[in-house]
Amino acid sequence: MLVYLLSLLTLTSASFLPKCKTIPGTEAWPSEDQWTSLNTSLSGHLIKVSPPGAVCHPSQSTFNPTTCPAVQAGWKTSAWHTEDPVSSIQDNWNNDTCLPDSNAPCSGAGYPLYVVNATSAMDVKTGVDFARKHDIRLIVKGTGHDYLGRSSGSNSLSIWTRHMRGLSFHNSFRPRGCSTTINVHAITAAAGTQMGELNEQAYLRNLTIVSGGAETVGVGGYLSGGGHSILTPTFGMAADQVLEMEVVTPDGRIRKINECQNRDLFWAFRGGGGSTFGIITSVTIQAHLSFRHISTTAYIATSAGNPNFWSAIAKLISHFPALDALGISAYTFIRPNVTSPEMNITEPIDAYAGIFHLPAFSPENTTESLREALTVVFEKALAAYPGEFLSLVPPPVEYSQFWEWWRDNNGPLNGGGDVIVGSRLLGKKELMTDTATLAKALKAAGAVPGLDLYLVGPGGNGPRKVVRRGGGSVVSSIWKDVLVHTVIGVTWPAFDKDTELRQKSLLTNKYVEALRQLAPDSHAYVNEADPNEPNFQRTFWGDNYERLLAIKRKYDPTDVLWCHPCVGNEGWKVVDNVLCRVPHGFEL
Ligand SMILES: Cc1cc2nc3c(=O)[nH]c(=O)nc-3n(C[C@H](O)[C@H](O)[C@H](O)COP(=O)(O)OP(=O)(O)OC[C@H]3O[C@@H](n4cnc5c(N)ncnc54)[C@H](O)[C@@H]3O)c2cc1C
Ligand SMILES: *[C@@H]1O[C@H](CO)[C@@H](O)[C@H](O)[C@H]1NC(C)=O
Ligand SMILES: *[C@@H]1O[C@H](CO)[C@@H](O)[C@H](O)[C@H]1NC(C)=O
Ligand SMILES: *[C@@H]1O[C@H](CO)[C@@H](O)[C@H](O)[C@H]1NC(C)=O
Ligand SMILES: *[C@@H]1O[C@H](CO)[C@@H](O)[C@H](O)[C@H]1NC(C)=O
Ligand SMILES: *[C@@H]1O[C@H](CO)[C@@H](O)[C@H](O)[C@H]1NC(C)=O
Ligand SMILES: *[C@@H]1O[C@H](CO)[C@@H](O)[C@H](O)[C@H]1NC(C)=O
Ligand SMILES: *[C@@H]1O[C@H](CO)[C@@H](O)[C@H](O)[C@H]1NC(C)=O
Repeated sequence: MLVYLLSLLTLTSASFLPKCKTIPGTEAWPSEDQWTSLNTSLSGHLIKVSPPGAVCHPSQSTFNPTTCPAVQAGWKTSAWHTEDPVSSIQDNWNNDTCLPDSNAPCSGAGYPLYVVNATSAMDVKTGVDFARKHDIRLIVKGTGHDYLGRSSGSNSLSIWTRHMRGLSFHNSFRPRGCSTTINVHAITAAAGTQMGELNEQAYLRNLTIVSGGAETVGVGGYLSGGGHSILTPTFGMAADQVLEMEVVTPDGRIRKINECQNRDLFWAFRGGGGSTFGIITSVTIQAHLSFRHISTTAYIATSAGNPNFWSAIAKLISHFPALDALGISAYTFIRPNVTSPEMNITEPIDAYAGIFHLPAFSPENTTESLREALTVVFEKALAAYPGEFLSLVPPPVEYSQFWEWWRDNNGPLNGGGDVIVGSRLLGKKELMTDTATLAKALKAAGAVPGLDLYLVGPGGNGPRKVVRRGGGSVVSSIWKDVLVHTVIGVTWPAFDKDTELRQKSLLTNKYVEALRQLAPDSHAYVNEADPNEPNFQRTFWGDNYERLLAIKRKYDPTDVLWCHPCVGNEGWKVVDNVLCRVPHGFEL
């Protein structure tokens, strides 16, 4: 009811505003002189966009047969897209409008029109003020990793944060406006910092940070969405590590947000999602003294279609709460009906692989203790099916620091292709439900594309107490009882509309739906969720939604920032590549 009233108020006050965001060719669109003067205020850091793939298209003014091959090669890596002002790692977020392939169509329709290549908080403010004043659609690109398309948008001005550089290290930290110092190691990183460089720089100082599996993910989207890691069961979410952020709010103010000032924003920015409440220009996060790290990759396999496969997996993951209690976390992958020519597996099999981790804090945490714990669980899971499964728990490897595992096991990531993913967060209740129910849900969710189960929830009994700064955040409330984050992905070939629609429908209505039914009261991880998630407001943010919406309205009453699926985005819709107000209210 509260939401409904708030929205009525917003709609009433908004009815005098233009129906759509300003686009070129309309009277309100800034003149060339105004763009030039913006560029001058930005010391020349304004980019007029031409699609990066255009160099491969003879019809385009930027056609360049000399540079095209490098663009085609780079396109296949995530790192290349993160260095481009407008490219997204997944092609669908630029709507496949200009792939680096002369046989494909090419237009700028799926890209922003202008980019602020920001190097300072002042540049960000200048861009935000310009977009607000001229009512231009405003978006934010850190790296372009986003699985929901929130960092791309047509007919927009984009703030690109990649060139906001700078890292500094602190032996203790006093947030602005606080009278006491927090006695932890801390790192201040500018918004352009990627997790790989942050990890490495921390490692060089015998420090370890909470970071995910991808080196090119940036601090902006990762922290604002929550940020899970194999160290989350030990230290909490990445957002739980934040001591302070510097942000530019949509009203153009540069603010330090922390537990002592701007507490509402501090709460919202840690889990409320990117490009919604403002633009992060730098973050200060806690770092931890490094520690031994133990890891192994264990497998289960059986002949394809073995009716016991999903029951065995269900039994296995019913032991995840017990592994969590021993301090063990995991990234695990279920892939039914696969062959592996590299491993000489030419007959299809149903396979499970888990990378298990034991951040070691006590002398009793040894390679043998990890192997023993896993062996027991694998044996228990498979006991009912003698002779049907192959399983392997190889001797774990001990690394002197987490980063050494990370460096040796995380190669450069791929880019390109059309993909979306879906998510559901599972707690002890769902993991320990009866085997038949769990197996049925997992099978429906993962029998075709396969699924990933990440044992990375902060709901466990790890050896460290997680301090929730400022009394907590959105993310600490949503992930409170979570043990496993489930991810399912679907792909389709570019320009194959039928397959695209079929895959999207299967993801939303079949695969994720099976997990929704298993865990109806549970949530999804906003950074790795289905962009078409029904009722996304409740699914991503639960009971926090009203408070998040009120904060959005307070700092961004005219919707300078807009994205989907994001807090407070009701009342707008993209129609023919233009962001417009929806005339008659909206559904929640
Ligand atoms: C290969 C891969 C592996 C991943 N692994 C993990 C993992 O292990 N753990 C995990 O938690 N997540 C993981 N993710 C998901 C990741 O957290 C999200 O994709 C996240 O949104 C990336 O943030 P970004 O800033 O790098 O990307 P972007 O696409 O640039 O931005 C994502 C969102 O954040 C906004 N944003 C970016 N910068 C800022 C800023 N400075 N201020 C305000 N808003 C900003 C964007 O507008 C957009 O809404 C992975 C993603 C990929 C593609
Ligand atoms: C902004 O100025 C720089 C330096 O003068 C120039 O290279 C760039 O093309 C300009 N950008 C736009 C959009 O005109
Ligand atoms: C963005 O700005 C940085 C810092 O000035 C500069 O090195 C880089 O070349 C610029 N990128 C583009 C695409 O203009
Ligand atoms: C790094 O920190 C760990 C944990 O405190 C300590 O055991 C180790 O000796 C340190 N290593 C270096 C090189 O300082
Ligand atoms: C297994 O994969 C093969 C080859 O991709 C396919 O023909 C077959 O239908 C699949 N079987 C099942 C049960 O999915
Ligand atoms: C696969 O088989 C080939 C030929 O028998 C052999 O040379 C290769 O080492 C095998 N690979 C693995 C991973 O077992
Ligand atoms: C790791 O150490 C903790 C004590 O700090 C202990 O409770 C736990 O059982 C150990 N886990 C393993 C797998 O060794
Ligand atoms: C994507 O492109 C198709 C044409 O290929 C167009 O019909 C559609 O409107 C575009 N959608 C968006 C969101 O840009």
